[in-house]
Amino acid sequence: MTDRLRIYEVGPRDGLQNEATAIPLEAKLEFIDRLLAAGLTEIEATSFVSPRAIPQLADADELVPRLPASPGVRFPVLVPNVRGLARAEAAGATALAVFTAATDAFTEHNIGMTVEASLAAFEPVLVRATELGWWRRGYVSTAFGCPYTGAVDPHQAVSVAVRLLELGVDEISFGDTIGVGVPGQVEALTDAATGAGIRLDQIAYHFHDTRGTALANVVAGLEGGVRCFDSSTGGTGGCPYAPGAAGNLATEDLVYLLDAEGIEHDVDLDRVLDAARFITAALGKPLTSKVGQAGGWDASTGRPIGRA
Ligand code: COA
Ligand code: ZN
Repeated sequence: MTDRLRIYEVGPRDGLQNEATAIPLEAKLEFIDRLLAAGLTEIEATSFVSPRAIPQLADADELVPRLPASPGVRFPVLVPNVRGLARAEAAGATALAVFTAATDAFTEHNIGMTVEASLAAFEPVLVRATELGWWRRGYVSTAFGCPYTGAVDPHQAVSVAVRLLELGVDEISFGDTIGVGVPGQVEALTDAATGAGIRLDQIAYHFHDTRGTALANVVAGLEGGVRCFDSSTGGTGGCPYAPGAAGNLATEDLVYLLDAEGIEHDVDLDRVLDAARFITAALGKPLTSKVGQAGGWDASTGRPIGRA
């Protein structure tokens, strides 16, 4: 295990599932090609959930077989149950993510089950995925706050994470689903997780920028030793609980920070901006991420770079 920083791109899945406009399969594949060209090596491609629940990703069965053969690249897909796993397997997936939350109120609204019931549903999924040798991630949403019940104790999020690890996931992504978290909470969650025996290389953070705290939270994660952060190129995704508000941290904003801090990773800012402009145009919306608007910055000339 290297401690190189990982940027886990969620745009094609978490981004697109929360956009009102469904885009054609060809545009999704073009977006993924541009993400690969930017150097992203972990791209959550789609989900095998109910097409009635998420019509934007109803073409998962056609998309996965058409993903470009890319050595060293992982294309996880979101899977809610054994039915989803069978679809993912038939399509040729080799990595998956299961998703639950820290709070029952959230899972009941999102997937119609308690946290406990969701873990029971994942067990056969994870057993089979382990047999198949797939890479496996588990999401713990609402780790920093729940839209239905408010504050969340970090130990509550960690206890769900421990259960997922026992069921065989390789990594946990703690999600700030409604974008309310602040750095002190990140520090407390990292401490609670490591205190419960979770290794730093098993932790990823999934921040939303709804209230402008995502990058501050990334810094708190980095300071705590976490080396994997989720983001969405173009900042797609919005916030399903606050129409018009920002959702996922934009990959371009994350890459700018890491570059300027001299933290090594494999992603090229100009090419991320190219992919960001492509996907927002396909969605028919403006590129509103900070770095999407301002461009990067060339410290040797003082000028912005990569602006449209
Ligand atoms: N793929 C395709 N269809 C599926 C499916 C899967 N993996 N799992 C269930 N379905 C279909 C069923 O056939 C049924 O279809 P119908 O309404 O046409 O009869 C419908 O979904 C409901 O199935 P059911 O077994 O009763 O499950 P449910 O209603 O308890 O739904 C989930 C559970 C998880 C399948 C559903 O809530 C879902 O897909 N949610 C998506 C949530 C999501 O992606 N959120 C964002 C991620 S954080
Ligand atoms: Zn998200």
